[in-house]
Amino acid sequence: MIDLDRARADTPGVHHVAHLNNAGSALPPRQVHRAVVDYLTREAEIGGYETANERRDDWEHTYDALAQLLNASREEIAVVENATRAWDMAFYSFRFQPGDRILTGQAEYASNWIALKQVADRTGARIDVVPDDEHGQIDVAALEAAIDDQVKLVSLVHVPTQSGLVNPAEAVGKVTRAAGVPLLLDACQSAGQLPVDVEAIGCDVLSGTGRKFLRGPRGTGFLYLRRSLIEQLEPPFLDMRAADWLDDGSYRIRPDARRFENWETYYAGKVGLGVAVDYALELGIDAIWARIQELATQLRAKLQEVDGVTLLDRGAVLGATVTFTVDGHEPAAIRDFLAARGVNVSVMDRSSAQLDYGARGIETAVRSSVHYYNNENDLDRLVEGLKALR
Ligand SMILES: Cc1ncc(COP(=O)(O)O)c(C=O)c1O
Repeated sequence: MIDLDRARADTPGVHHVAHLNNAGSALPPRQVHRAVVDYLTREAEIGGYETANERRDDWEHTYDALAQLLNASREEIAVVENATRAWDMAFYSFRFQPGDRILTGQAEYASNWIALKQVADRTGARIDVVPDDEHGQIDVAALEAAIDDQVKLVSLVHVPTQSGLVNPAEAVGKVTRAAGVPLLLDACQSAGQLPVDVEAIGCDVLSGTGRKFLRGPRGTGFLYLRRSLIEQLEPPFLDMRAADWLDDGSYRIRPDARRFENWETYYAGKVGLGVAVDYALELGIDAIWARIQELATQLRAKLQEVDGVTLLDRGAVLGATVTFTVDGHEPAAIRDFLAARGVNVSVMDRSSAQLDYGARGIETAVRSSVHYYNNENDLDRLVEGLKALR
């Protein structure tokens, strides 16, 4: 069980807003804020390189924390700027040929799709979209049927940006493992929200971000790569973090996942990310997930009672994100109206989710998203705001 009083006492932001934009960027706990500020202060006092040396244990700890979160080992973790960079560094390392196939799902994220499309256009590989099943999650039987010798990669978004769906990652991983096809899992919205265990899922590559459900600093992200895959993947960019320049003019790429990092990095953010992961682990991911589901279920029930509201989320398992429309009101106007009342939500447009929203005829929607530190009053403020729309 989450100690809500403690969680809120640790979150100064809850005194300012009803923050229901956790799928965008969550409010950090004061421990994370303090760690970043302290680190920056130290840099200002003694210098950036000197602070990195002095605080080495702190930023190195972040790899251990992430490894624990994901049930991986620290050599399998890279810390980068954001989830997109993490995903791209891995994805652009795979080599495709004409006739190769890449499978993805309807939940695919805009930036991932754009990269898939660029690579498909360049190489002659083909992207095949696996349909959703009757629940609105990826159809695992259709995925299994779609796999043949030409399939070189499966890309799956665990929890999409545009809806409350939680895709059945473990069932997908079972299929990809049996077929020997690498599974690239976008865990950007799931890490910190629900249990994400790379062994249980059976994914080979995973990307995540700091600022969403992990409540870490902006400008931080991470990549997991299965040990056996790391040395098979040559990153699309190399620098002197990723590789050593040798006497004879050649270079040697690092054997661990840090080959996907670059030399200059946001050390304060890296430290803050580690503190955020520790904080989540201390609360317990199972407890976080239970509380999120409870709150999101409550919010859906409350919204259902509001005239003109249509809930949009589909899926056998639903998480923190609750999307909806209100008859006669543009989502952007609703967001702004709520913001003026101290309630944070965001807007999702079709251009962020062409495969999903396109298929469902959704042009734009309000996206609200709870976290464990929200309380019932936060939910009521959203509902009251909607009732006050005119
Ligand atoms: C499902 C999903 N994947 C990837 C991303 C990209 O994350 P980042 O902005 O950290 O690159 C997001 C961000 O909203 C997302 O929701």
